[in-house]
Amino acid sequence: MDFLLPRAICRLKPANPPRILPRGLPKQGRCIASAATATQQPVPFDEAPPVPLRTPPHPHPLPQAHPAIHNRPLKDTRPFSDFLTDSFSRQHDYLRISITERCNLRCTYCMPEEGVPLSPASHLLTTPEISYLSALFVSQGVTKIRLTGGEPTIRRDIVPLMHEIGSLRSKGLKELCITTNGIALHRKLDSMAEAGLTGVNLSLDTLDPFQFQIMTRRQGFSAVIRSVDRILEMNRLGAGIRLKLNCVVMRGINEREIIPFVEMGQEKDVEVRFIEYMPFDGNKWAKGKMLSYKEMLGMIREKYPGLEKVRDEMNDTSKTFRVPGFKGRIGFITSMTHNFCGSCNRLRITSDGNLKVCLFGNAEVSLRDLLRKGNNGQPIDEDAMEAIKQVEMDRRQALPGDAQPLGYGERERELLELIGMAVKRKKEKHAGIGELENMKNRPMILIGG
Ligand code: 5AD
Ligand code: SF4
Repeated sequence: MDFLLPRAICRLKPANPPRILPRGLPKQGRCIASAATATQQPVPFDEAPPVPLRTPPHPHPLPQAHPAIHNRPLKDTRPFSDFLTDSFSRQHDYLRISITERCNLRCTYCMPEEGVPLSPASHLLTTPEISYLSALFVSQGVTKIRLTGGEPTIRRDIVPLMHEIGSLRSKGLKELCITTNGIALHRKLDSMAEAGLTGVNLSLDTLDPFQFQIMTRRQGFSAVIRSVDRILEMNRLGAGIRLKLNCVVMRGINEREIIPFVEMGQEKDVEVRFIEYMPFDGNKWAKGKMLSYKEMLGMIREKYPGLEKVRDEMNDTSKTFRVPGFKGRIGFITSMTHNFCGSCNRLRITSDGNLKVCLFGNAEVSLRDLLRKGNNGQPIDEDAMEAIKQVEMDRRQALPGDAQPLGYGERERELLELIGMAVKRKKEKHAGIGELENMKNRPMILIGG
């Protein structure tokens, strides 16, 4: 409805308005249950029919088969990439890329006060390398990319990077999201929306500015609230950015904020997700500090007995509820008490270019090293990337048509084989609470959420 928006506001709307296509739900009234055998071909943004942000509940509940089977849109006809399919038939169409190890906050649950040792700059992926890998994954059926960190908004070139990734909409990308602490977000939001931003997960663990300072060891509460308000304002004008607030709940620290967060949804159309506190290197996790989902739910039910369950979307890591009459919704991320490994569709790339197939596993393979082989192990800047592409094109032209292995260039093929191997080694589920506690893993900030 561009014609309804005043001039200055039209600027907010991305050239191709972001459309969030709900997973596993049929388009235009067709029942996905009848399409269990359909396979995938990514749908370009521009061709996909508009789908309302809030999809009405599905009239026919889906049978409880393997979630991945129901995860394919109906019109898809190409088999999902074997490279991205693991040995439990999970199809990985969601990629999270950490674009920096740095952060402007020091949340107590995330890292020690002194921060964490950072990788040398030359170890980190360059923007052309991130764009290249994004395109490679989208070519294999990834439909959602989330930029994480550290704090992604402090990467200087995040907006041009988002434009590059946003251009993959024509190749099948449907969602481009970020996870952010919101401190610097409000300054970049408009241009991110122009690049095709469709979703923001914003970390906010308290609604009290003093408590904010205690939990993050920094100031900045008002800047975060400015970002939240700006997104809500943009959405009123039609930007269609899906906003979720992530709230890690720690006993004795912020559990009394659960109710105020729920009540925020009385007027504001936001989803607040309460996250069970997880152990990572250096975050001083203790079982007693963790509030389970059940306990949090009990606290909310005491005040709002009418709290009702909302149907979760396919591959959702969150269990969603709403208080009747409230605009917002609430969710629980139950990583510690109920794993959601069975429907996991996520892969992660760390800032230093390692592919991580599970947040809680320490198995990693370096995509960076393989990618840089063609550049003497050096970081690939724009010129070097152009030169590499040119060599590849010349090589392909010199080959007779069917001599091209798998239809990919040599580098892509090697990368895909490495990715495929790592994905095939993905475990069925992550360790239980007792083992997680003692497991060696990177600190959260070096994994990327
Ligand atoms: N436990 C649970 N969630 C965490 N996050 C960071 N550290 C932890 C932890 N120890 C989440 C925060 C943030 C996202 C980047 O990761 O909610 O939103
Ligand atoms: Fe930064 Fe997010 Fe870690 Fe907080 S949780 S220190 S905002 S990376």
